[in-house]
Amino acid sequence: MLGPVILAASRSDKMRRFVSAAPGTKQVVGRFIAGETVEQVIPIIEDAADKGLEVTLDVVGEDITTPEQAAAARDAYLELIGRLEDLGLGTRAEMSVKLSMFGQALEGGHELALANVRPVVEAAAAIGTTVTLDAEDHTTLDSMFAIHEELRRSHPQTGCVIQAYLFRTEEDARRLAAAGSRVRIVKGAYKEPASVAYQDKAEIDKAYVRILRTLMDGEGYPMIGSHDPRLIAIAQELGRKAGRKLDEYEFQMLYGIRSEEHIRLAAEGHRMRVYTAYGTDWYGYFMRRLAEKPANLLFFGRSILTK
Ligand code: FDA
Repeated sequence: MLGPVILAASRSDKMRRFVSAAPGTKQVVGRFIAGETVEQVIPIIEDAADKGLEVTLDVVGEDITTPEQAAAARDAYLELIGRLEDLGLGTRAEMSVKLSMFGQALEGGHELALANVRPVVEAAAAIGTTVTLDAEDHTTLDSMFAIHEELRRSHPQTGCVIQAYLFRTEEDARRLAAAGSRVRIVKGAYKEPASVAYQDKAEIDKAYVRILRTLMDGEGYPMIGSHDPRLIAIAQELGRKAGRKLDEYEFQMLYGIRSEEHIRLAAEGHRMRVYTAYGTDWYGYFMRRLAEKPANLLFFGRSILTK
């Protein structure tokens, strides 16, 4: 029952100030956030490449409040892509973006987010890689899917995320399982009401499997975002049944979570992509990681008390 409380706190400015200032926070944040700057994240990309892993990079940040912050978010991604190009890492790394960081929630936000994300998609394509649009809370998704569709007109490889906990997702998955699409399926990390989302873990897992089957049987490229060993085994089985080769879908996991499993799946010949978040505005991302596994909260609490 702690998960929803932590998720509610993830939207509180008071908690943000408290958590950010607490002694010991940095050490725990460092488990999930790869660094604060581009330069700190580059060795992590290189290390992942040495281990046969790929990455998707998230410059953390969301819920910005001014158009200037949205432009700064765009520029941070453009700087990242420039560094990837300099280092020849373009083919090992794709980008994950949250449209709220590009201004989606501001006045005229749909157009603003599209205008800010488009140059990022273009710059990524120019170095041989691509962008995936993360899924945020359910109120943002119609706009996210419309932006995704618009971007795909010029850059069909642009990916998006769908969340198994939402009732709407099975239909979204049917629409998106078409040739050329790239879709990441995840369980869902936000606090959603019972009117739009399954609340029971077992129901979410069952929906995940139904959606996975739709994606595997479809013609697109499924990206399986999960650390759940049962779902990973089911994905492998569904991939086999659908006649897919190992490079016709990929697994994705978060930096700092089940790292030994990243290596195991890559060693089995799977494509494994590590979602690697970095930057200074880590609060919302960090709180969602705490909510997913309340045992992390104990670790966090202990590190505060022992400082
Ligand atoms: P589950 O939560 O059941 O975890 C399975 C096991 O994994 C746990 O038993 C534990 O061992 C380990 N684990 C999981 N989370 C952990 C944590 N935080 N700390 C330590 N161990 C942990 N969500 C969203 O709403 N929009 C999005 O765009 C994305 N994007 C995204 C990308 C990628 C690559 C991944 C892997 C996940 C996301 N998510 C997301 C998050 C997703 O919705 C979900 O909250 C987490 O992946 C946790 O769910 P699992 O499927 O891992 O299962």
